[in-house]
Amino acid sequence: MQIAHRMNLVSESITLKVSAMANALKKQGVDVVGFGAGEPDFDTPDFIKEACKQALDKGATKYTPTPCIPELKAAIAEKFQKENGLPYKPENITTGAGGKHCLYMAFMAVLNPGDEVIIPAPYWVSYPEQVKLAGGVCKFITGSEANGFKITLQQLEQAITPKTKVFLINSPSNPAGHAYTPEELKALAEVIAKYPDIVVFSDEIYEKLIYGDLKFASFANLAPGLIDRTLTFNCHSKSFAMTGWRIGYIGGPKPAIDAINKLQSQMTSHITSFTQQAAIAALTDPRGAESVEAMRKQFEKRGEHMWRRLTELPNVTCVKPQGAFYCFPNIGAYVGKKAGNTEIKEAVSFAAALLEQAHVAVVPGNDSGFDTHVRLSFATSMENIDKGIDRIAEFLKKIG
Ligand SMILES: Cc1ncc(COP(=O)(O)O)c(C=O)c1O
Repeated sequence: MQIAHRMNLVSESITLKVSAMANALKKQGVDVVGFGAGEPDFDTPDFIKEACKQALDKGATKYTPTPCIPELKAAIAEKFQKENGLPYKPENITTGAGGKHCLYMAFMAVLNPGDEVIIPAPYWVSYPEQVKLAGGVCKFITGSEANGFKITLQQLEQAITPKTKVFLINSPSNPAGHAYTPEELKALAEVIAKYPDIVVFSDEIYEKLIYGDLKFASFANLAPGLIDRTLTFNCHSKSFAMTGWRIGYIGGPKPAIDAINKLQSQMTSHITSFTQQAAIAALTDPRGAESVEAMRKQFEKRGEHMWRRLTELPNVTCVKPQGAFYCFPNIGAYVGKKAGNTEIKEAVSFAAALLEQAHVAVVPGNDSGFDTHVRLSFATSMENIDKGIDRIAEFLKKIG
């Protein structure tokens, strides 16, 4: 059977190789410490589950309008207005099956073949693949570790060409947990404001998971006119511990939202009927904000602890995470050395040797544009963090 040429554009994820190895070891009964998870280890709050059960009992099992019921659009518009100061109306809102689906639909709706998308690195693994599928071309800008992985204004200016269609910004970020201050974001927004044809994709899905004194700011209202050409992405996955529910949403200018809805009407029609009530409950019930804050506090403690322990490892550097739930240490000093019989060529071989020899699972940074770094999630218990990092310390001692 001949598979479509477009599938050749999508890379096989090398990170999947490492997680497949971790799963195989676990099946054999090996006690693997997993730092790979990209999701909260907390359960969805009960009141949200309850709203879903009630929706089912009341018969919310049929088709709904595309992309969702009007009450959900209204709740999302209100969230954007109250929490982010973004003047979106229900007509400016769409939903999708998670943040990932929302981003994919948006690239499909906005990009023409050859359009360039500026993506700061390190980046979330799916952006480049989605851009390629939509016919776009990725232009990566690498944030230096010395600058906390943040890109500079000069780098942004230099990356802009007449073909630039989208500037993508993700703060707080996966995989490095770095986050821009409102002032830094405003400066980037002022650069973009000079180029009226550039559309901004602001991936704000980690907005609630932010630490220390840092304040969150939505990109769309940081410079005049940007509200008319920014798509703001969010989802319930990380904030409300609802990764499996697949609820994502976008706020943006009506022409883009209409185009996405047109696409969705021929694709998935809408998000699952009975999860829509749960999505409303999460956004409107005060217990939603309380549960997010309880989880955020836990993540902050764990992140601080994991980061401190990582920086104590010999020849490892790590930017302190200011958001999300990831540390992204630099293991480059070990590249070119040997762990047992395995030559450490880059992050994938480091992660494979660490898993085989010390039974710790981490995500290599290769698919995020950094082959000298690995991602560790602190969405796990303090005990696990200590156990895993003790093992990493022993493993590093043996590398020569
Ligand atoms: C930066 C970023 N954007 C989008 C997503 C997609 O989120 P969802 O699980 O809602 O599809 C993720 C998931 O890990 C992410 O890290």
